[in-house]
Amino acid sequence: MGLASKKANVAFDSIHSSTDKQLEKKVVYDTKDLNLWYGKDHALKNINLSIYEKEVTAIIGPSGCGKSTYIKTLNRMVQLVPIVKISGDISYRGKSILDKSYKVEDLRTRVGMVFQKPNPFPKSIYDNVAYGPRIHGIRNKKILDEIVERSLRGAAIWDEVKERLHENAYGLSGGQQQRLCIARCLAIEPDVILMDEPTSALDPKSTLKVEELIHELKNNYSIIIVTHNMQQAARISDKTAFFLNGEVVEFDDTDVIFSNPTDKRTEDYITGRFG
Ligand SMILES: Nc1ncnc2c1ncn2[C@@H]1O[C@H](COP(=O)(O)OP(=O)(O)OP(=O)(O)O)[C@@H](O)[C@H]1O
Ligand SMILES: [Mg+2]
Repeated sequence: MGLASKKANVAFDSIHSSTDKQLEKKVVYDTKDLNLWYGKDHALKNINLSIYEKEVTAIIGPSGCGKSTYIKTLNRMVQLVPIVKISGDISYRGKSILDKSYKVEDLRTRVGMVFQKPNPFPKSIYDNVAYGPRIHGIRNKKILDEIVERSLRGAAIWDEVKERLHENAYGLSGGQQQRLCIARCLAIEPDVILMDEPTSALDPKSTLKVEELIHELKNNYSIIIVTHNMQQAARISDKTAFFLNGEVVEFDDTDVIFSNPTDKRTEDYITGRFG
């Protein structure tokens, strides 16, 4: 078989398998013709992306191409910047989140976020995880204890901290702090977890732990992760979006992006020719 027909076959198979999968999977976020400006700076240009539930979607691209801006539009964080203007639409579970009537508090209880630098509160490990549930009015100690344990187990850090739950979270290592932040996120029982370069400040061992965790979490959550690490995107994601200068150059199944990209710029980026 010639290379061209082999490639066509691979493409055909992947279209087939992704269609089959997508028939069962629901869209969590639908982004339509999204444009975003910081003052005059056009940071996101005509973005069209559908994020499916219980999948890991990776966002890759060189520095300054709009990755963080995009994921911060998904929980309406970027709108806190006064000079931001937006056009187009983002719907979450079928409702427009850019609509003024959509309550941001409702969105934040469904969508958790983990940042590049672990950002625990200056409180005990226990109080970090119990923070969200307490805000939602849960006061019963037994219930809080259960939520704290379940969330810390879910974030694969329970065994490391169970003897020191009432010590300050700042005493944990960076990798432990990042998993604690993931536990804090799980405690509100979100639907979606947004992660902006969650392992860039971690050593290889902690990175591996967080990657294994993401793999586990996708059974129950939809995850969108920004990463500069190509191997990581290839290892952990189902779909990959390649951003460049505020545009989505290519969005497809991760194995297609990494083995048979359509656009030359995607190939150049993933093979390390720029960025
Ligand atoms: N608060 C802000 N005010 C003005 N411009 C901003 C702001 N935040 C980001 N930008 C600009 O928007 C563009 C996209 O930035 P963004 O942080 O989304 O990039 P990124 O892809 O996440 O980059 P990196 O990989 O370095 O984190 C850049 O040109 C940046 O300077
Ligand atoms: Mg960024």
